[in-house]
Amino acid sequence: MELTEAIQSRRSVGRVKQDPVPKELIERILQSAVHAPNHRITEPWTFHVFTGRGRGELARARAETARLQAEAEGEDEEMAAGRVSRERKKAFRAPVVIAVICTAGRDEVETLENYAACAAAVQNMQLTAHALGLASMWRTGAMAYHDYMREFFGLGEDDTIVAFLYIGYPDMGERPRRRRPASEKTVWHEG
Ligand SMILES: Cc1cc2nc3c(=O)[nH]c(=O)nc-3n(C[C@H](O)[C@H](O)[C@H](O)COP(=O)(O)O)c2cc1C
Repeated sequence: MELTEAIQSRRSVGRVKQDPVPKELIERILQSAVHAPNHRITEPWTFHVFTGRGRGELARARAETARLQAEAEGEDEEMAAGRVSRERKKAFRAPVVIAVICTAGRDEVETLENYAACAAAVQNMQLTAHALGLASMWRTGAMAYHDYMREFFGLGEDDTIVAFLYIGYPDMGERPRRRRPASEKTVWHEG
């Protein structure tokens, strides 16, 4: 697929089939991530790939995070149980879920730039998935910032969970994209 076409036709796709994704394709997606630009070649990314029954590990972490969130928000037992169950199931929304973790830098600026590099890596992954006929969805939500989830991934203080990237074969039509043209967002400084 031509690059411009891939950029313009990629969509976030939330509903995917449960058909397994060949490991070779997942590896190609991961390999595309590490080609992202990164300042001082810090290569700040780590990937946790959850597939098949391995998604159960993520499901358990999601469930426990949801339980703690419900407790903190004072939800009653029934509501909390519903929340825990819903959040557990979300780990199985796609045959592959990749958590993209960003390692903090040696100072504030490097941490900021590492995050930018990881975001670029996620975009590479989404475009590569798309070019391979796969759909993807970048998700974060409160889960990604919760202490329990951070501990699950063994994060240091300023490390971050940049994305939970859900990947699978698409199971829905493409939505039109609404974006303001670049011309509305651009200030030209010309000679
Ligand atoms: C940092 C980041 C976090 C995101 N988190 C979520 C999320 O938690 N849930 C969700 O539905 N989409 C999430 N998205 C995806 C956006 O909703 C999606 O990119 C946007 O709707 C535009 O759609 P498109 O990717 O098809 O252009 C996230 C995107 C980014 C960049």
